Amino acid sequence: MASKSKILFIGGTGYIGKFIVEASAKAGHESFALVRESSLSNPTKAETVDKFKSLGVKIVHGDLYDHDSLVKAIKLVDVVISTVGHGQLSDQVKIIAAIKEAGNVKVFPISDFGNDVDRTHAVDPAKTVFETKAKIHRAIKAEGIPHTYVASNFFAGYFLPTLAQAGATAPPRDKVVILGDGNPQAIFTKEEDIGTYTIRAVDDPRTLNKILYIRPRGNIYSFNELVSLWEKKIGKTLEKEYILEDQLLKNIQEASIPLNVILSISHSVFVKGDQTNFKIEPSFGVEASELYPDVKYTTVDEYLSHFV
Ligand SMILES: NC(=O)c1ccc[n+]([C@@H]2O[C@H](COP(=O)([O-])OP(=O)(O)OC[C@H]3O[C@@H](n4cnc5c(N)ncnc54)[C@H](OP(=O)(O)O)[C@@H]3O)[C@@H](O)[C@H]2O)c1
Repeated sequence: MASKSKILFIGGTGYIGKFIVEASAKAGHESFALVRESSLSNPTKAETVDKFKSLGVKIVHGDLYDHDSLVKAIKLVDVVISTVGHGQLSDQVKIIAAIKEAGNVKVFPISDFGNDVDRTHAVDPAKTVFETKAKIHRAIKAEGIPHTYVASNFFAGYFLPTLAQAGATAPPRDKVVILGDGNPQAIFTKEEDIGTYTIRAVDDPRTLNKILYIRPRGNIYSFNELVSLWEKKIGKTLEKEYILEDQLLKNIQEASIPLNVILSISHSVFVKGDQTNFKIEPSFGVEASELYPDVKYTTVDEYLSHFV
């Protein structure tokens, strides 16, 4: 059997990065995390780095804006996974330049981890974020770098604990606000499972130069279906307020960062149905739960039970 690829994580200490680094180490990949030395003075980041070390992850000091440190780190591995955050999305061109110089990297799952950015009806500011990611895709293609993009759809932890109620800290018990008519379906996957699926894809030739969509059957729910599942769990019917598209578009324009970003992504998903309104064609994509049916993912039903 071929040995497992060595993986470098850039952005591994971030929100989603942590789960993917952990999945990598647990799956037996030699794993490296690029960490800025300055980040270690932050106690939460230092704790994450200690956890990485306890899992056998090797820490490499470096910075996206320090070309030599990137090249040096990339030379250690076969695969780079970037999970940098919004502020650094366009600067991933620096990773592409370093990969070209290091010349050894096979696969390059880039910081997508959301909607398929090439199949979207988003309005701004989400539209610009998605275009930034799409530009990086084009740059990778132009350089001929073998790649896999991960369209993870929603991180469960961002949306399910509040049932996608902006500003809430718990799921609703009396009244729920539904964006749009509540019918388009969205996909909510637990972060640990996104980590597992992403790492499974690394050495899988079926994912090479493809988009890996994470669309497990038990995680696909419309807003209305999600609310009715929650109502069943708490044994109560909630009062419902629907915010239809025209009003939502106005709200997006009037909101400031980060609410306008959240609302415009919600518009793309809950009103336009951008996570589920197209078929995954073999020419461009593969679906994770079909490729890896043995992965026991947490369903939305199971996830919501913890909040009852
Ligand atoms: N689907 C969804 O529901 C959803 C939700 C949120 C985000 N996302 C997507 O997930 C992806 C990752 O976002 P995130 O929220 O997980 O990111 P994040 O928490 O903001 O983490 C960013 C990471 O980048 C690192 N970083 C920042 N500047 C750097 C530099 N100069 N050099 C090296 N590393 C640097 C940070 O390091 P430090 O830890 O040292 O700061 C951190 O590890 C993005 O594409 C985002 O759009 C999707």
